[in-house]
Amino acid sequence: MSWAKNFKELNKSIHDRTFFDCGEPDLNTFIKTQAAKHMKAGISRTMVLPANVALPNQKFPICSFYCVTPSSICRETLPVNLAKKLPRYPIPVFLLAQLAVHKKFHGSGLGKVSLIKALEYLWEVNTYMPAYAIVVDCLSESAQDFYAKYGFEILCEHNGRIRMFLPMRTIKLLFNKK
Ligand SMILES: CC(C)(COP(=O)(O)OP(=O)(O)OC[C@H]1O[C@@H](n2cnc3c(N)ncnc32)[C@H](O)[C@@H]1OP(=O)(O)O)[C@@H](O)C(=O)NCCC(=O)NCCS
Repeated sequence: MSWAKNFKELNKSIHDRTFFDCGEPDLNTFIKTQAAKHMKAGISRTMVLPANVALPNQKFPICSFYCVTPSSICRETLPVNLAKKLPRYPIPVFLLAQLAVHKKFHGSGLGKVSLIKALEYLWEVNTYMPAYAIVVDCLSESAQDFYAKYGFEILCEHNGRIRMFLPMRTIKLLFNKK
């Protein structure tokens, strides 16, 4: 099985959620039972990368997914040199709320592809509604190591998880070819 070319918005009647397993029960539960509800409620968007071959039920298995939503952080959680340039209001950010790859594809580069697609998507959104940074709340030390590899830095502890961030101006360097 290999994956399709493009990420698509999760669609319950097209994408099969039942067989998704990334090894993290919370993320498996999210894609199976919460992602579609959260989209319907208008609080986040989940994009999936389907396999390019359908199952006997005509639905396409999910190879990886990411979920994004607007959020904000306190200015004081940022390093002083960054915080001093910002107003004393909540600072708008995008939260990369979830990102996971099916176990079958771990180590095949799909985590990197999915992260870059998520950053590219948020960069596009940023052109219409700017935000200061992208933040992620890491489920595990291993997730922290993964994001650190791509330049995310520790911001603070949030609900018992390590929150990391990547400033939008760094992302600009990746995608702005002007
Ligand atoms: C973390 C996860 C997304 C990585 O996906 P993956 O497809 O295995 O990663 P890739 O094959 O694209 O690896 C890309 C690079 O990151 C590195 N990497 C992958 N997982 C890593 C980890 N846990 N820690 C440190 N580096 C990691 C790889 O070595 C590779 O480096 P290279 O380009 O120098 O060879 C995947 O393991 C996963 O879904 N885990 C469960 C869910 C999870 O923890 N999600 C994080 C959200 S909190």
